[in-house]
Amino acid sequence: MKHHDLIFSGAHVVSGGVTQLIDLAIQGEKISALGATGTLGSAKKIYDVTGKYIIPGAIDVHVHFREPGYSYKEDWHTGTQAAAMGGVTTIFEMPNTSPPTRSTVELSEKKALAKKACVDFGIYGLLGEDNLDELDGLISEGANAFKCFMGNTFGNLPSPSTGAMLEGFEKIAQTGLRISLHAETASIMALRQKKLEEAGKNAPLHHLDARPEVVAIEAVSRAAVLAEWTGARIHVLHISSAGELRPLNEAKVRGVDITGETCPCYLYLDTSDYKRLGSIIRVNPPVRTKGDSEEIWKALNNGTIDMISTDHAPHTAAEKMKRNIWEADCGFPGVETQMPLMLTAVNNGKISLEHYVKVSSENPARAFGLWPQKGIISVGAHADITVVDMQKKEIIKAANLHSRGKITPFENFETTGAPIHTVVRGRFVQRDRQICKNSKGHGKQVTDIQKMPPARPINSEHAIEHVLKK
Ligand code: NCD
Ligand code: ZN
Repeated sequence: MKHHDLIFSGAHVVSGGVTQLIDLAIQGEKISALGATGTLGSAKKIYDVTGKYIIPGAIDVHVHFREPGYSYKEDWHTGTQAAAMGGVTTIFEMPNTSPPTRSTVELSEKKALAKKACVDFGIYGLLGEDNLDELDGLISEGANAFKCFMGNTFGNLPSPSTGAMLEGFEKIAQTGLRISLHAETASIMALRQKKLEEAGKNAPLHHLDARPEVVAIEAVSRAAVLAEWTGARIHVLHISSAGELRPLNEAKVRGVDITGETCPCYLYLDTSDYKRLGSIIRVNPPVRTKGDSEEIWKALNNGTIDMISTDHAPHTAAEKMKRNIWEADCGFPGVETQMPLMLTAVNNGKISLEHYVKVSSENPARAFGLWPQKGIISVGAHADITVVDMQKKEIIKAANLHSRGKITPFENFETTGAPIHTVVRGRFVQRDRQICKNSKGHGKQVTDIQKMPPARPINSEHAIEHVLKK
């Protein structure tokens, strides 16, 4: 009989589309055995989690942790503590910090700051108008994915021209790394916002007026054309509209390696919430109609949308609470509340627990090259697991959030279902709804396990690098 570090006994283990009543053993950083209750041998510690569920920890490929530059909003420690509380075991962090993660210099600085992370992480490099020459360096320094801001948002990074995007895609396609897109077309929004502002229209719903669906439809379509031409892998961030599902689906049918995500705010909120929430609801892209949210639910359930992420975007109360909508910062924290909100949806029959596991962990792991070390509960995989109590009732309260950004549109939401323990590579980072003392610094960059299958560069004979060599 084997001896393990840890055994969780009596839980329903959910992974790979099935739920099994089995025990789970951990040795070191990995899952060492799975099997019928009482058959796994001995362990230094046995946790009786009868009646609970064990799922692979959530992998959130879209968080903004703000450091360097805006650590008063969030830093790598507070942000990853919020993740641990939210049952999230891996995050991918966005480059719109100050300075932005645009070259090897900023990437190494960010890696040093990330040393205090409690959960595992990937770091995005920027694909912008002016850093095409830096992409090689970012790739060799270990950027785990790229982010392209097709539209302006927090940090106001200039959105790259279609020409710069094409060259970036050509280069990144050679590596297989995925390029995540803030898919809103800047020029459409800029014109409309200017006119609205000049006309004195500054109520919360005017933010939505500045960003009609076509903003996203055009951006997704254009990015898909460039990905199809170059073979680059792309990912559509924060899907907010029914309209952009069509170009997403069409691109999938054409064979483009494209994935999409949505976030709880687009599932749970709609235009009827603007009055109640005021400037708190301001987010890019904006929360849209009830019809949009219904279509997004369907797309999440039928596989058109591949994953759920949070776009965790913390700001201070003063930055969020403004009478004039154009002065309010966009976004809100989410990494801690995604799982309770989505487990509530499971309890309400909106999505099955098996499918939730797929969209919160398995699919992001596959799309970003972490599978099968992460995103699955199997022997030999990382012991990144979240123990879930499907009955636990909580109320989301600013004061309880671990993020520095406390203002959330989900304030006072009643949730049923909560992550009660979070384990990252065999170590508890959250236990019984408390952060564990030795969690700081346990998080590791995923570079060592990440394996993006080689992309199939298409039309590479037309790529500028190749043409110049002729
Ligand atoms: C994000 C932020 O604050 O960094 N804000 C937002 O409204 N979503 C940026 C982004 O993802 O667009
Ligand atoms: Zn964005």
